[in-house]
Amino acid sequence: MDFKDQVKSAVDLVSVIGEYVRLKKSGTQRYVGLCPFHSEKTPSFSVHVARQFYHCFSCGAHGDVFGFLMQIEGVGFFEALKTLADRCGMPMPKRSLAADEDSKLRSALFQMHELALANFRENLRGATGAEARAYLQRRGLRPETIDQFGLGYAEGSGRRLLRIFEQQGFDRSQVEASGLVRKREDGTFYDYFRNRLMFPIHSESGKVIGFGGRALAAEDNPKYLNSPETRLYQKSHVLYNLHRAKEGIRAQDRTILVEGYMDAIGVTAAGFHPVVAVCGTALGSHQVQTLRRLSHRVVLNFDPDMAGAKAAEKYINVLLDESMQVRIMELDADLDPDEYCLERGAAAYQERLEKAKGYFYWMADRARAAQDPNDPDARVAVLRQLVPVVRRIPDKLERMQAAEDLAGYIGVERGTVLDQFRQAVATRQETVIERPKAVLRADERLLLNAFFNLPEIGAHMIRELKPIESIGRFTSRRIFQTIFAMADAGSELRFEEIHARLEEADQNLLAQAVLAEDSETSREDVLAAIESIRRSESLYQRSELKVRIKELERTGNWEEALRLMGELQAIEKEVRDRA
Ligand code: CTP
Ligand code: MN
Repeated sequence: MDFKDQVKSAVDLVSVIGEYVRLKKSGTQRYVGLCPFHSEKTPSFSVHVARQFYHCFSCGAHGDVFGFLMQIEGVGFFEALKTLADRCGMPMPKRSLAADEDSKLRSALFQMHELALANFRENLRGATGAEARAYLQRRGLRPETIDQFGLGYAEGSGRRLLRIFEQQGFDRSQVEASGLVRKREDGTFYDYFRNRLMFPIHSESGKVIGFGGRALAAEDNPKYLNSPETRLYQKSHVLYNLHRAKEGIRAQDRTILVEGYMDAIGVTAAGFHPVVAVCGTALGSHQVQTLRRLSHRVVLNFDPDMAGAKAAEKYINVLLDESMQVRIMELDADLDPDEYCLERGAAAYQERLEKAKGYFYWMADRARAAQDPNDPDARVAVLRQLVPVVRRIPDKLERMQAAEDLAGYIGVERGTVLDQFRQAVATRQETVIERPKAVLRADERLLLNAFFNLPEIGAHMIRELKPIESIGRFTSRRIFQTIFAMADAGSELRFEEIHARLEEADQNLLAQAVLAEDSETSREDVLAAIESIRRSESLYQRSELKVRIKELERTGNWEEALRLMGELQAIEKEVRDRA
């Protein structure tokens, strides 16, 4: 077994995938969930425990644990291998360190971010960190929260990280690519973050990939300075606190989405774990897709000011486009989420959370508040404002339901609503990928599974099945032919190897067979299936022969007719002998 196989057999695919996708057990060997690689409402993404592979019957994504990590994290094979090896405490063998350039760069950047993190945290504890410590105390952060979030302080000299990176022997181009150090016009370098409170930003798998730096004094601008885009950090892909929140999001089946780093920290510190924030950008579809893998439900909890409401409206649109169920959580008394938790406590926050309303009730309230209550057309005006929002709901039934609910809520007649929405409902384009499915027969599935479940009778099966012509009429014939060819060549009949040699359509079929898992395959079932295929084969041959004999007799070709009759009798004798 090479290192790759050792790692593969040491990690559990289901738990790796389970960190990114909500999976439900379905059968003894199978888990299903919504595919993380395309947008869907009914699960067509399956994971097979024993075969350690995943397959999406809708978009066709498939592979093993390495493929999954590569695809979902957007990394190369080397990094996927290293991540998994680290995960199970297996040191990478020396010779595999010959990584490609990109993996080398990423690995250097990870190290630099770790060094920066350690330095910022040390500063915060040390003499230069006094002001930052006092600030955090004023904001009510407990020492354990500061530790948990890895908060730190970037001191003001502007050359601290630069020195550390140089001492560690990183070369100039790597240092520059880190985003932690900038180049001046004259070619000299300086630290990007100076005299700032530092918030490390992590990837979904929990590696530090960037920082947000908050000014300590109100007059310092900008208030937040964030890492520039680097090979590790793409802001439109990252959600602050996701690696800590994801377990809670899956468990509670909802995300609390807040605006700021401090909000994410304060709400978590109050005991609410499924909370994330975007990092100084607008919310993008990529981030929503990440959340949707974990849960379809999101609660927006923004600052209770105009800016917060405006941001919420923008977010709602993006979230609806990705089929999320959106609620709005409102806080009173002009407190932002962090302040609210500090001042009112967790129980009060919990109550607001439970009272969060569906986004369109919130929007209707806002639209209504902006109208003159004496205007007889106000209700229809409110309705008209909400049409574009409801139109964004991708699912037709949900869209209709939302329209009806809205009519009841605003108090307009159902007919008026339907008029308003008929067009909206009709014009929305549905985006459903449905692949035509070729369906395997029960005996095909059984036999294919048997190759993997009962390897001890594999050779016997091949011997018996190979001469049977009707295999050539199976939907899965090319899979059998591949297996036969591999057996002829003396290859081991392992799932991965067979799967790898098939065309995409046949990979789909094999996945179908393996994931169907009707029941345990027993030796007896297999032998019975072979026997029945043989019997129907000879039935088929006999009826074919009879037709041909009749035809020959009709045209007077007696000699050939006699020869075929001999064949027919031989087959019939063979059937009698077997019975
Ligand atoms: N932000 C930013 N750049 C700025 C201002 C804000 O990137 N100049 C981003 C940060 O990610 C910040 C978020 O927008 O966390 C929300 O801004 P704000 O509400 O001002 O910050 P808080 O995190 O709430 O910080 P504080 O409570 O200290 O004001
Ligand atoms: Mn705030």
